[in-house]
Amino acid sequence: MAICKIFDPYPKSSREEFFDNYEVLDNLEKLLEGKFWPLIIGPKRTGKTSILKIVGKELNGIYIDATGIKSLKGLADNLISSLTYRVQLDLKVLKVEVTKRPVKGLQSLLGKLGDTVVLIDEVQNIISPWFISFLSNAYNNSEVRFAFSGSMIGLSKTLTGKGKGKFKGRPIVQIETTPFSEEVGKEFLRYGSRECGVKISEGEIEDAVETYRGIQGWLTYYGNFRSLGYPHDKAKDMVSQIASNIIEGEVESLGEIQKLIVKALTMVEEIRWKDLKNLAESVGKREISDWSFNHALMQLVDARLVKVVNDGSKKYSLIDPMYKYIIQRKGW
Ligand SMILES: Nc1ncnc2c1ncn2[C@@H]1O[C@H](COP(=O)(O)OP(=O)(O)OP(=O)(O)O)[C@@H](O)[C@H]1O
Ligand SMILES: [Mg+2]
Repeated sequence: MAICKIFDPYPKSSREEFFDNYEVLDNLEKLLEGKFWPLIIGPKRTGKTSILKIVGKELNGIYIDATGIKSLKGLADNLISSLTYRVQLDLKVLKVEVTKRPVKGLQSLLGKLGDTVVLIDEVQNIISPWFISFLSNAYNNSEVRFAFSGSMIGLSKTLTGKGKGKFKGRPIVQIETTPFSEEVGKEFLRYGSRECGVKISEGEIEDAVETYRGIQGWLTYYGNFRSLGYPHDKAKDMVSQIASNIIEGEVESLGEIQKLIVKALTMVEEIRWKDLKNLAESVGKREISDWSFNHALMQLVDARLVKVVNDGSKKYSLIDPMYKYIIQRKGW
């Protein structure tokens, strides 16, 4: 049985498979056309990779996943191996050049690429002095344009020059991805249900949208299980199973105070700074200095795990509802 395209759990690579978010795609393409470098930031599972892949395909660009890249040479190897279809370049010569002298080799590679778009996903993995100087070099000496995405801590500050990094004054424009609104989430499931020829009742759609609060990834997994023939409750159980593994890994990568804050946030809908601090302290059975608490909280906000709502007074809440569900169920 072929997987129904709109509910395909892999990142999407064409517009037809991508629901509703055309505005983001058009915006990204417009910015790139104007020689701005877009940086897509957003909560996990809200379509960042899909956006880069679709735009990459439409602009005949080069998509690179930076997960696992550790050095300039690693980046160069990755770039070269995604060039195999650009036959006009002598890849063997480039490879030798890059191996011998990565900085020079990459410079010459960028020069040869000409007016090309390079899209780097999970860019937080390679934020480092060598990468920043590579970008500065590309900016000053080549026609290559870049788009980035990432969801982790510190990334946007370094790239936009607010942090300690050196990449100041470059044309980086931040674009946010957000979960679907309640209405768009429902439309997505209705559309998928028609496209995939699977009956999902209005009650089930409402329940799924409420459970996943518009997070595209969970809705897609749910829709995929439905299109494979699983009934509503079973499909939800299976999404929870997947979410449980993924979220466990994500929570493990947090710092100790961040974990306490996340745990405290699973106990409430939304909460003010002072109350959250008290709650995190009582969860951890320890005092936390204002500075350490605030620093950890801001990192969670930067990572788009925590949302700040300002309706007269600032309140904090978790973005992904599955965090609450999984953490409470596991009794962490
Ligand atoms: N607008 C959309 N229409 C259809 N499917 C979508 C849409 N946005 C995301 N998806 C689906 O949601 C899942 C997550 O998307 P994707 O991997 O692109 O997000 P991401 O933000 O890169 O996630 P991560 O933070 O985990 O890297 C995938 O299964 C993808 O196919
Ligand atoms: Mg991704």
